[in-house]
Amino acid sequence: MGFCLPVCKILRRGKYFVLLFLSLSLLAWIATFSGETVKSIQLSSATTQSLIRADSLTDKFKSWTATPEDLNTPPPKHECPQESPLLKGAVKLSFESSLKLKDVETENKGVTEGECEPVDCKARQSVAILIPHRNRERHLLYLLHHLHPFLQRQQLHYAIYVIQQAGDVTFNRAKLLNVGYLEALKDFSWECFIFHDVDLVPENDHNLYVCDNQPKHLVVGRNVTGYKLRYKGYFGGVTAMTKNQFLQVNGFSNTYWGWGGEDDDLRIRVEIQKMKIVRPPADVARYTMVFHKRDSGNEINKDRMRLLGRTPQVWRKDGLNSCSYKTLSVERLPLYVNVTVDIGKPQS
Ligand SMILES: *[C@@H]1O[C@H](CO)[C@@H](O)[C@H](O)[C@H]1NC(C)=O
Ligand SMILES: *[C@@H]1O[C@H](CO)[C@@H](O)[C@H](O)[C@H]1NC(C)=O
Repeated sequence: MGFCLPVCKILRRGKYFVLLFLSLSLLAWIATFSGETVKSIQLSSATTQSLIRADSLTDKFKSWTATPEDLNTPPPKHECPQESPLLKGAVKLSFESSLKLKDVETENKGVTEGECEPVDCKARQSVAILIPHRNRERHLLYLLHHLHPFLQRQQLHYAIYVIQQAGDVTFNRAKLLNVGYLEALKDFSWECFIFHDVDLVPENDHNLYVCDNQPKHLVVGRNVTGYKLRYKGYFGGVTAMTKNQFLQVNGFSNTYWGWGGEDDDLRIRVEIQKMKIVRPPADVARYTMVFHKRDSGNEINKDRMRLLGRTPQVWRKDGLNSCSYKTLSVERLPLYVNVTVDIGKPQS
C-alpha cells in the first residue's frame, strides 16, 4: 500500500498521457482529412465549446506538421485601430422620395439580420442601436440608409433593433427603449446601447457611436434649431450608455406616455448616480431632423412636470426592473430586427 501509492499514481497518470496522446492524434487526423467539414457541422453550444478547444489544439498540431495548404488559414483578427481609417467627416445627406427598402438592402450586403462587423479587424465595441417606432416607415428608411454605412465606417460590431409599439394607445418611447435593451441582450451581450430617435440622422461620422465611461449625449445640434443645444441638460434624441450604466439607473421610467419628459427623467437618474453627461464637440455632434408633423398618438405629455418631480423617490421601483410587456413578434429582417411589443396602456 505504502509502496503502491506513488507507483500507482504514476501509472495512472501515464494512462492519461497515453489517452491524451491518442485523442490528440485522432484530432490531428480529423483536422487533416476533414477540417473544414467538421467546423461546419451544426452543434449545440456545449459541444461547440469543446470543438473550439479541440480546434485550437489541432491548430497547434498543424503548426508542428505544417503542410503548404495549412498556411491559408486566416490569422486571428487584430483589434481595429483607435480611429477608423474609413471615416469621411461631414457627409452630404440625401432624402430621396424614390428611395426603396430594396435599394438600402442592396447597398448593405454585408448586413444580416440588422447586424454587421468589420471584415478585417476586431471591433473595439459591440453596440446595439435601439429605435422606438410606430408609423414612421419613411423616416426609418432614411435613417437605415444613412446609419448602416455610417456605423460600418466606424468599424463597429453593431445591430439595429426597431422596437415597434403595437396598437394605437399613446406612444411610450422610454418604455420601448427599456424593452429594446432587455430583448437585445437575449441575442448578445452588447456592451453599449444607443437610444436613437427615428427622425434624427447624424451628419458627421466622427460622432462615434460608442460608449464612454460616462453616459454620452450625441445630439448637440440639429438643423431645425440652428445646431444649438436645445437647453442646458438636454439628454434626448440620441444617447449612448453602457450596459452597466443603464442598469445602474434602472433604465428609463415606464410611466411617460406621449411626447416629452422621459429624457429629462433619465438625466435625473444619471445625476442621482453621480454620473456626468459627456458630449462630443459641437461641430461633430450634428443631426438633420427629417421633417414631420406631431404624430397622432404622441401628443405632448401634460403630466410630465409632475412625473419629473417624483423621479428621485420612484426611480428604484420604476424602470428596467418593473418593465412588463408582451412580445408579439420578433422579425429578423435583413437590415434590422423588428421587435413588436404590447406595452399596455397608461394607468388613469
Ligand atoms: C432640416 O433638414 C431636413 C432634411 O433635409 C429638411 O427637410 C428641413 O427642412 C431642414 N430644416 C431646417 C430648418 O433647415
Ligand atoms: C414590425 O412587425 C409588425 C408585426 O409584423 C408590423 O406590423 C410592422 O409594420 C413592422 N414594423 C417594421 C418597421 O418593420
